[in-house]
Amino acid sequence: MSNNFRPESMARITNFELANAFIEEQIAEVRKQVGDKKVLLALSGGVDSSVVAALLIKAIGKQLVCVHVNHGLMRKDESEGVIKMFKDELDANLIYVDATDHFLGLLAGVSDPERKRKIIGKEFITVFADEARKLEGISFLAQGTIYPDILESIKAAEGKKAVKSHHNVGGLPEDLQFELVEPIKLLFKDEVRVVGEALGLPHAMVYRQPFPGPGLGVRCLGAITRDRLHALREADAILREEFDKNGLAEKVWQYFIAVPDIKSVGVKDESRYEGWPAIIRAVNTKDAMSATIEEIPYEILHHITYRITHEVEGINRVLLDLTPKPIGTIEWE
Ligand code: XMP
Repeated sequence: MSNNFRPESMARITNFELANAFIEEQIAEVRKQVGDKKVLLALSGGVDSSVVAALLIKAIGKQLVCVHVNHGLMRKDESEGVIKMFKDELDANLIYVDATDHFLGLLAGVSDPERKRKIIGKEFITVFADEARKLEGISFLAQGTIYPDILESIKAAEGKKAVKSHHNVGGLPEDLQFELVEPIKLLFKDEVRVVGEALGLPHAMVYRQPFPGPGLGVRCLGAITRDRLHALREADAILREEFDKNGLAEKVWQYFIAVPDIKSVGVKDESRYEGWPAIIRAVNTKDAMSATIEEIPYEILHHITYRITHEVEGINRVLLDLTPKPIGTIEWE
């Protein structure tokens, strides 16, 4: 357990020079640990797993086997981006699993937020484990564990109660117990980003806003349907595009759309037009434990409203969530 604690002497990685030294050190460490064996990694496309993938590709090349499971709850073009970056550009050994139908089938009719979270978390592990069983000669499992995760599990072990059941890969079935490779486990998030950029990952990927494991599943409120999920994904893509264009992406920590399972009456082409509302959530926070609402200029909000209601089939209103955390959590579910 002792190497799960960050030594006081360890300098904070704030620039490329320190990042490169860390990378060299970890490459040597990983090569020593795994030799010529194969390492498996669940590559979600999040910052941590992406940085681990880039680091391990550098250290052991094709001995790393990445599995990207698309649970059908990813944002627009997200899985395609993972494939493009890792398979096409970094030439990674990447297996892509499109489990959309499987996940949406299991989630059909399920409206309770915690049940949804549990189904997505449990199934994610099942699908990943099934892929792992098909592979031969895997000896290690790489994980994007970072230092705050270790601090969190210490807190959890002390019996502190969680508000929601967050999930990250872990807890694989008994028959799949691998030795762990966790090259960034002593790093804080800001250090992971510096290391990621030093490894050549694009700025947008490394500074990507946090995205929950259950994905759009906790933003398509209540029982998920394909049409509402599609509307949410399209509306969210417009919000992100406009935030990027207007320089808000750097100022706002997390921003997204949630779409509840209610319809209101609208009018389109002089006819009655029932649709869902798209709810904009844009918050700032330091540690996600509390959050404040970021002011978005009305002009931009009007433009986003216009685009969403005109471009996204099924959305006829746009609402702005002004609730800080507490009392609202950042995600709606
Ligand atoms: P809440 O909604 O609890 O969210 O205020 C705090 C932060 O955590 C993110 N979040 C998750 N992250 N797995 C994750 O890795 C999850 O299951 C999960 N649920 C929420 C949320 O997006 C926010 O940044």
